[in-house]
Amino acid sequence: MSTHIGAQPGDIAPTVLLPGDPLRAKWIAETFLDDSRCYSEVRGMYGFTGTWNGQPVSVQGSGMGQPSMAIYVNELFTDFDVQSIVRVGSCGAVTEDVGVRDVIIASGACTDSSMNRIAFHGLDYAPVADFGLLRGAVEAAESREGGSPFHVGLIFSSDSFYPARPELLGEMVKYGVLGVEMEASGLYTLAAKHRRRALAICTVSDHIVTGEETTSQEREQTFGEMVEIALTAALA
Ligand code: HPA
Repeated sequence: MSTHIGAQPGDIAPTVLLPGDPLRAKWIAETFLDDSRCYSEVRGMYGFTGTWNGQPVSVQGSGMGQPSMAIYVNELFTDFDVQSIVRVGSCGAVTEDVGVRDVIIASGACTDSSMNRIAFHGLDYAPVADFGLLRGAVEAAESREGGSPFHVGLIFSSDSFYPARPELLGEMVKYGVLGVEMEASGLYTLAAKHRRRALAICTVSDHIVTGEETTSQEREQTFGEMVEIALTAALA
């Protein structure tokens, strides 16, 4: 096993879906995968492997925020030779162009995290999605009849769910940021470092401008749509 994932080499598929919430990982495995089995329960951060349309796929919880996500993603890339990771998460909308329950497919991710500033000695690295996964997700979203509206663009990966200076997000919105979450920027940078593929897809769970929120039932329905988009993008 690796330091934080209680699995043996070969237990984890080359393609991994990465929700923040480990209980979402369990729900995805139970709802979408065949023959799934739990490979890790370390710290309650569940991981499952099964098949989707006959193809192997794993689902691993990442926890919230870039430091937690980076622990799991580093180990998935270096200890389990994972090739593709698709984050399936939630985000807050920061512009009235985006509604609650919409899906955002993140072409790139800005951040207030110091992780990249330290890694790049103060230069600004631009973390972007893998183009093949991005294209696959957009095609999958376009082909869904009656699916939730979706957007492709920038998200902001914040280190704080409760930021000290929320007004700073307004500057990001002027430059095209659609939503705020807490993991994508670090995920894209790690994928680039390890020459692997990554994409983040988020459903909008709350609206930071209008204050609107989704019910847990609505969240489950749009979350399911997003999982199907992610599986199709990574495996179809
Ligand atoms: N901020 C950060 N992450 C989030 C939010 C938010 O408002 N909503 C869902 N994930």
